[in-house]
Amino acid sequence: MDLTEVLLLIFLGFWLMLPAFLPNSAAVLFGGGLPMDLGKSWKGKRLLGDGKTWRGFIGGVSAGTCIGIIQLFIAYPFDAKEFWGFGPVPEAILVVFVLALGSLLGDLVSAFIKRRLGLERGDKAPVLDQYNFIAGAMLLALLIVPDWFIGAFIEGEHVISLIAVLVITPILHRGVNIIGYKKGLKKVPW
Ligand code: CTP
Ligand code: MG
Repeated sequence: MDLTEVLLLIFLGFWLMLPAFLPNSAAVLFGGGLPMDLGKSWKGKRLLGDGKTWRGFIGGVSAGTCIGIIQLFIAYPFDAKEFWGFGPVPEAILVVFVLALGSLLGDLVSAFIKRRLGLERGDKAPVLDQYNFIAGAMLLALLIVPDWFIGAFIEGEHVISLIAVLVITPILHRGVNIIGYKKGLKKVPW
């Protein structure tokens, strides 16, 4: 395998994970209003907290699904069979939706854990903050579209895409959050 192939696999990893990356930032933009836990607490601590709202969740999942469908349109003229890794349509639309939904479900699980640990909304939680969405997206994909996930991220040289996403995601996450913080969209730079 030469360098071009490796770079292509790294790029492919990010291309395929874009519907899972976008919902996080989109949730910040759409967020507000009714909290998903409806303000309810468990053992004196909020179930999820005010940082998880219905608007953020639905807006985020929609944004991730939309970007994925746009990606399918971009890929179609070049690769009408495999849609550059998303696989044939209509199954690819399910793939894209699962990635977007999984990423924000991962975010909810992470918020649930943070609240149980006594961390307030926005408090730092290393690993959880950086990996919740990518882990959620990948686990839900493994559950609902396993053949696609294994083909795209596990089988043979495709594991390079997985490693690239796992290594670069925390750096990307930090970068995007610093931008969000400077623009006044996020309260904290993480
Ligand atoms: N957001 C939202 N709904 C979601 C996810 C995020 O409204 N389902 C918005 C909230 O305004 C949130 C912001 O996006 O404050 C940043 O998201 P995130 O960093 O995931 O939440 P935190 O504020 O850090 O809260 P937590 O500690 O619960 O993760
Ligand atoms: Mg946070």
